Amino acid sequence: MKVLIATDKPFAKVAVDGIRKEIEAAGYELALLEKYTEKKQLLEAVKDANALIIRSDIIDAEVLNAAKELKIVVRAGAGYDNVNLEAATAHGVCVMNTPGQNSNAVAELALGLMVYAVRNFYNGTSGSELKGKKLGIHAYGNVGRNVARVAKGFGMEIYAYDAFCPKEVIEKDGAKAVDSAEELYAACDVVSLHIPATAETKNSINYALLNRMPKGAILVNTARKEVINEAELIKLMQDRPDFKYVTDIMPAANAEFAEKFTGRYFSTPKKMGAQTSEANINAGIAAAKQIVGFLKEGCEKFKVNK
Ligand code: 3PG
Repeated sequence: MKVLIATDKPFAKVAVDGIRKEIEAAGYELALLEKYTEKKQLLEAVKDANALIIRSDIIDAEVLNAAKELKIVVRAGAGYDNVNLEAATAHGVCVMNTPGQNSNAVAELALGLMVYAVRNFYNGTSGSELKGKKLGIHAYGNVGRNVARVAKGFGMEIYAYDAFCPKEVIEKDGAKAVDSAEELYAACDVVSLHIPATAETKNSINYALLNRMPKGAILVNTARKEVINEAELIKLMQDRPDFKYVTDIMPAANAEFAEKFTGRYFSTPKKMGAQTSEANINAGIAAAKQIVGFLKEGCEKFKVNK
């Protein structure tokens, strides 16, 4: 059995070593395709792979067609919007994610972006503090919970909205559960996005919603760029010079944001939220173990396709 790690954005070496240990202990072979620059390299590498470990790498119908021996793809991370689930099911390929394994890393980065924004991007001017500010956590999953835990240490007042999470779970963590996204945005100085990119959420962060935020608002995005209606965010930031946007996922219109909103816009050059050796080890080794469990025992825990 051949397990391929195909990562455009590589794991830390220590994580690859840990994955190799798991895979070889199971009697399988590990292959590595890192920092590939063209899709044809991926199409070539997947040809004889029985299992695949990926990150945000795009696994579409063409890749699945090329991967004739493939049985399982594990997205070492949370969001699996980069995998064509229908095509995987049609090819008889099991798709899994590794929920929770990188969420602390993403949460820490979200708080880092918040500090960066309230301190005016460290430009030497007098900024403000997170303490006492109202933080709105939009979706209370693994990352949202970690954001709440860390933000509490900063002395922030925490609000959360999640259509699928019982209010009691949120309130048990000392956060205020609100009834709608509209209510959340209207109440909070800072909103941190933790929604997945789905048909329902794409473009859902729009002018009307963001314009509910109070003066001096900050939007933090460590989720997905697709959830933002970029044209409307640009319009809003033009209309509201008080509004800041900090993101770990570069918008399609990055050049326009950077040019128009100097001093109140920042994007990491490459998504960095989960890019810590700890998160790489946690997610990578979980992926390797899930592959071994699936191939040896047929374990389908964390399967996300039908
Ligand atoms: C995730 O969905 O797990 C995060 O967005 C991290 O993605 P990455 O593995 O590409 O850094």
